[in-house]
Amino acid sequence: MSKRISAAACGKIILFGEHAVVYGRPAIAVPVTHVQATATIEPSTHGLIIHAADIDRTIAVDPANPIDPLASIVNLTLAHLNCPLPHVTITIHSTIPIASGLGSGAAVSTAIVRALAQWFGARLDNAEINALVYEVEKLHHGTPSGIDNTVIVYQQPVYFIRGQPIQTFTVAQPFKVVIGNTGVASSTKITVGDVRKGWEIDRARYEAWFDRIGAIVQQARSAIESGAIDRLGSLMDQNQVLLRDLDVSSVELERLIFAAKQAGASGAKLVGGGRGGNMIALVADHNVEAVTAALKDAGAVSVIVTEIK
Ligand code: MEV
Repeated sequence: MSKRISAAACGKIILFGEHAVVYGRPAIAVPVTHVQATATIEPSTHGLIIHAADIDRTIAVDPANPIDPLASIVNLTLAHLNCPLPHVTITIHSTIPIASGLGSGAAVSTAIVRALAQWFGARLDNAEINALVYEVEKLHHGTPSGIDNTVIVYQQPVYFIRGQPIQTFTVAQPFKVVIGNTGVASSTKITVGDVRKGWEIDRARYEAWFDRIGAIVQQARSAIESGAIDRLGSLMDQNQVLLRDLDVSSVELERLIFAAKQAGASGAKLVGGGRGGNMIALVADHNVEAVTAALKDAGAVSVIVTEIK
């Protein structure tokens, strides 16, 4: 029987602090294991082919092609492992919607690194995998903070400050969020770039917004650590106001946020780069169903309920 290796990586959501995290403020992110990317490696007759099955895209990897993110993660991993280009096909399957704030790019890269390491019988620790995936995040995003690759590679809740060692935290009392997908694809590279343009024009105003987001993140962390879940809804709402100020919300996101709140969610905000993709709503057990139904009625193309614990 011919050799076949598979590895997977989960998605993520940023509970508090996106965008400001690029500018050194803290953010809180958690893994979402209901969605995942999988990379499967099988022998091929010649060359290395990546087949992104869900989007029907096939790429022949050439060590001289550093531009394509999928080819890049393969080339970087092979260089790190000091291994020659193997004659294999890498098939990618992902249930993480692309360009939707759930970390699809970082998850696909992580799955590929893990699968290649296994293929060569090499052991890579999380710090090594994280560094490789971060290199490719720079191709996806331009100036990523590193939060997406970190939460996905370590697959645990993180309190993240750019350039600092990751901090984990305890969730004193588990809580649930409903994740609603607008179905609108939105490039993080563009939203991060637009925030950068605004910051360059009026640094004082943007720095003040980032400071306020940073303060919300700190309050959210202490609420999560002390089990004061009743404080989180209002903090989500306050974070969303500042994301609107940064001009990264959208009509579709606002429609879902409004619907979730009307149905009893205690707070709601967009997640990730914004202008599309997903939003989250904080829910108590008794209103999970009502909020899920309201999001679907308001046009969500998919809804996931996840427990943070
Ligand atoms: C994207 O998931 C989160 C942003 O803060 C960008 C980043 O941190 O690299 C928008």
